[in-house]
Amino acid sequence: MINQLNQLEQQALSTIPNIEIESSLIEYKNTLLGKSGELTVILKWLKDLSGEDRGIVGKRANEIRDSLTLAFENQKDSIKRSVIESRMSNEKEDVTIPFSQNSGNIHPITKVQQEIEDTFRRMGFDIFESMQMTTEYLNFDAVNIPKTHPARDMQDTFWLEGNGNVLATQTSCMQNLIMKHEKLPIRAIIPGRVFRNEDVDATHDNTFYQVEGIVIDKNIGMGHLKFTIKTMLSDVFGKEVSIRMRPGYFPFVEPGVEIDFSCPFCDGNGCKICKGSGWIEFMGAGLIHPNVLKEGWLDPEVYSWFAFGFGLNRLVMIKYGIPDLRYFMNPDIRFLKQF
Ligand code: PHE
Repeated sequence: MINQLNQLEQQALSTIPNIEIESSLIEYKNTLLGKSGELTVILKWLKDLSGEDRGIVGKRANEIRDSLTLAFENQKDSIKRSVIESRMSNEKEDVTIPFSQNSGNIHPITKVQQEIEDTFRRMGFDIFESMQMTTEYLNFDAVNIPKTHPARDMQDTFWLEGNGNVLATQTSCMQNLIMKHEKLPIRAIIPGRVFRNEDVDATHDNTFYQVEGIVIDKNIGMGHLKFTIKTMLSDVFGKEVSIRMRPGYFPFVEPGVEIDFSCPFCDGNGCKICKGSGWIEFMGAGLIHPNVLKEGWLDPEVYSWFAFGFGLNRLVMIKYGIPDLRYFMNPDIRFLKQF
């Protein structure tokens, strides 16, 4: 009987390492160790043996059950390992394959915004992000637009329920916070999303992007403003443009100006894009109004400053010749793919 057991063990131990499929391994295990498996049957016969033999054979049979169980476990692990190994060697990722054409690209607004941020970073500006929801105080009162001022209507505000919250109508809503909380001198641009309750058409949308600029230091004047804007626009269009200033009205600047730039498409000679004038009307700017500085805890006698703000959508439209503002919010992939 011991011989029979030893033979069974030997055969099993030499068979098990050659089984490479997990289901076959389980099947084979059942034929030996299962309910009516060979070893199980032998163990059942034990009771018919005499006391002494039963001890010897029983001990050996248990040893064999343990050694086979271990061999089955080891083989199961090795099958699992080899499955993983073969998958790893077959399923190689080729990192040199070019990205699919359908992988998407950066929205033109984001792209131009990033270019503008680079230019300003080079000039030593910090970059802050504007708030989309703000307070009536920051959006209006803090920038010298009192309660009764018609400019509040001019900006077609979305009023939020509750007390005094609005969707930002202008990135100028960040001026006061920056004055109060940043260390002087301040040189910052603040790009952000703004909202106005407008009827949507090719040149008006209720949601668009602005970039605010604010510089507060000693001995800052219009020349700095002009140089800053000229540098930014020349970078955006990849060629030198000229700047022209006209008087303009914004409650938070005094003097206030409207800035135009020479048409980069005809170099100021007059074309369809600049409607023959050679100039493109672009943005508002000026020296910050003393009331705004006082409201931001700064002394207008000590510091000089300028601020500007422009619509990023409009700049991107001019740069790429996009005819309709509504494309920007439209998820049409054919539009987005062009940039
Ligand atoms: N906030 C103004 C607007 O939305 C733009 C502006 C900013 C003008 C800063 C002057 C100075 O129209």
